Amino acid sequence: MAYQTLTVEIDDYVALIRLNRPEALNALNAQLVSELGNALADADQNEKVRCIVLTGSEKAFAAGADIKEMAAKSYVDVYTEDLFGADIDRITATRKPIIAAVAGYALGGGCELAMACDFIICAENAKFGQPEINLGVIAGIGGTQRLTRFVGKSKSMEMHLTGRFMDATEAERSGLVSRVVPTTKLIPEAVAAAKKISEKSQIAVLAAKEAVNRAYETTLREGILFERRSFQALFSTEDQKEGMAAFLEKREPQFRDR
Ligand code: HXC
Repeated sequence: MAYQTLTVEIDDYVALIRLNRPEALNALNAQLVSELGNALADADQNEKVRCIVLTGSEKAFAAGADIKEMAAKSYVDVYTEDLFGADIDRITATRKPIIAAVAGYALGGGCELAMACDFIICAENAKFGQPEINLGVIAGIGGTQRLTRFVGKSKSMEMHLTGRFMDATEAERSGLVSRVVPTTKLIPEAVAAAKKISEKSQIAVLAAKEAVNRAYETTLREGILFERRSFQALFSTEDQKEGMAAFLEKREPQFRDR
């Protein structure tokens, strides 16, 4: 499918989705979030895709929701259209793993979009922030909740109240990103991680993603029970037999997603 605000390249089981509104530093407008939802749904359905990398440009992952598009809206407008709500839910509904590869600005809705992915690898020039407070509003697509779970209350509160940006070093130190890589290596590193994931048993990958996400959505007791049942259920798969046999026979496993 052809998109106007993003590009999709599929190679070797990895879909690389690039946000592409350079004139507005990839600000999220209605068209972009709708196209992104469609692109992710397509990738989820596509047998040639086993992992997804979402990125922007070297200057900006995304500089937030499009302020020009939002500025004149009323409460009734944003409430009735549920601004970005349903489209953002499509991101977290994606079953295949999504890696956010962040260079440059990830601000407001851009930071929230990165946090809605499964993990974030960032470039040395990355800058994260929730500067909505400077516009007289607050985060609206998960920022107050997700940033707090990633980095804790104190840092999250400071960022939401002052609007200050966090650089890559601080983002790694505080657990917002899994790792920082040189800016020119961002895409190769993110794609290499995606390829590594795509070589695993897809059943185990989906189960691992579901189980880790329980840690955010339920109590510890329920999450551990969920994990235990998923772990046990994986013993009904051929991939478990193959993975363990391959280890014992000192060879690479040949997973078949069964
Ligand atoms: C619309 C934007 C934009 C945005 C940048 N642009 N961010 N347009 N919405 N969020 C546009 C600028 O207007 C400008 O267009 C062009 O992109 C380049 O931006 P500059 O400001 O000239 O670049 P620079 O000086 O390098 O500054 C970069 C920046 C700054 C620090 C990222 O652009 C900035 O502060 N942007 C806004 C960040 C922000 O407040 N984000 C939160 C949005 S609210 P022209 O046409 O002038 O060249 C939000 C809520 C989410 O995200 C919840 C929704 C439900």
